[in-house]
Amino acid sequence: MQVLGIETSCDETAIAIYDSKIGIISHCLYSQIGLHNQYGGVVPELASREHVLKVLPLVKKTLSDGKTDFSLLNAIAYTSGPGLMGALLVGSAIGRSLAYSLNIPAIGVHHMEAHLLAPMLEKNPPKYPFLALLVSGGHTQLVNVTSPGDFIILGETVDDAAGEAFDKTAKVLGLSYPGGPELSALAEKGDSKRFNFPRPMADRPGLDFSFSGLKTFTLNTFNSENINEQTKADIARAFVDAVVDTLTIKCRRAIHETGINQLVVAGGVSANKQLQHSLVNMIKKESGEVFFPRNEYCTDNGAMVAYTGYLRFKDGQNESLGFQVKPRWIIEDI
Ligand code: KG4
Ligand code: ZN
Repeated sequence: MQVLGIETSCDETAIAIYDSKIGIISHCLYSQIGLHNQYGGVVPELASREHVLKVLPLVKKTLSDGKTDFSLLNAIAYTSGPGLMGALLVGSAIGRSLAYSLNIPAIGVHHMEAHLLAPMLEKNPPKYPFLALLVSGGHTQLVNVTSPGDFIILGETVDDAAGEAFDKTAKVLGLSYPGGPELSALAEKGDSKRFNFPRPMADRPGLDFSFSGLKTFTLNTFNSENINEQTKADIARAFVDAVVDTLTIKCRRAIHETGINQLVVAGGVSANKQLQHSLVNMIKKESGEVFFPRNEYCTDNGAMVAYTGYLRFKDGQNESLGFQVKPRWIIEDI
């Protein structure tokens, strides 16, 4: 059985094919970073137009890389939310049209559920129930995944997402969009003892997060210092340490509150090496296990969409011809 996955929720056009016997047989990605970089962030209309140009050529390339063909596909999965309205519409319309012309089912997939399931594509996948820390450009959530498709949100950000805070802070430090990876690399050169940034909401009970104050704290520190390369690196280090520590504190708390010590970490920020290191150390002390997707499946990709679509298809999901995208879609409502 083969399922084609189409991801167009933001600024990556990503396509993959999941084969139920082999796993992912091919995946291709076109990143629009170069296009949006000059504007310092994603321009939604430009993103939609670029997806229109890229989806079909990438579908063809993915089929040919996987040595397969349209006629061998059993279903088409596409991201139907959450994300940018226009960008979602492009992937959904193309996915549905392709499925109609091939007379196979089309399945709309939740982007964050797909992120959360990405570690299932690895050799040692997590077993239910597990906790999931979802950290992307638009989301920061702690979720209790009780069984396949059953999600309880334990906590989430009350303002900026972790990835958004990385990107905005990177901008303050003059780094280019998207700032997460660059900020993280700069922090490696920083001295962790020079500045001490707050760990927002860590001293309050509960599992919610807040990152917008940290971004302001960075800006104020930046404005009050004589800026040179080392100071920039030290500020980056203080910011990354604060985010990583805060996320780690909340994950440990969720483990204690639920008694579940299997933790999945997914979404773009899960690619962060400092975060991975900190969570691996924490989980050892909790005698649990932490699961990350491989690097290319941490950030947006088609593999996670193809795989999630395959699970839905296997369960008999088949949607009618009409479709709806959901720019805002809570994972508990799937
Ligand atoms: O999951 P993703 O690719 O797209 C969304 O669904 O939002 O996440 C993108 C976010 C961006 O904010 C980006 O800066 C951040 O993930 N990111 C990172 C790293 N790689 C990507 N943040 C910190 N460290 C990284 N290595
Ligand atoms: Zn994403």
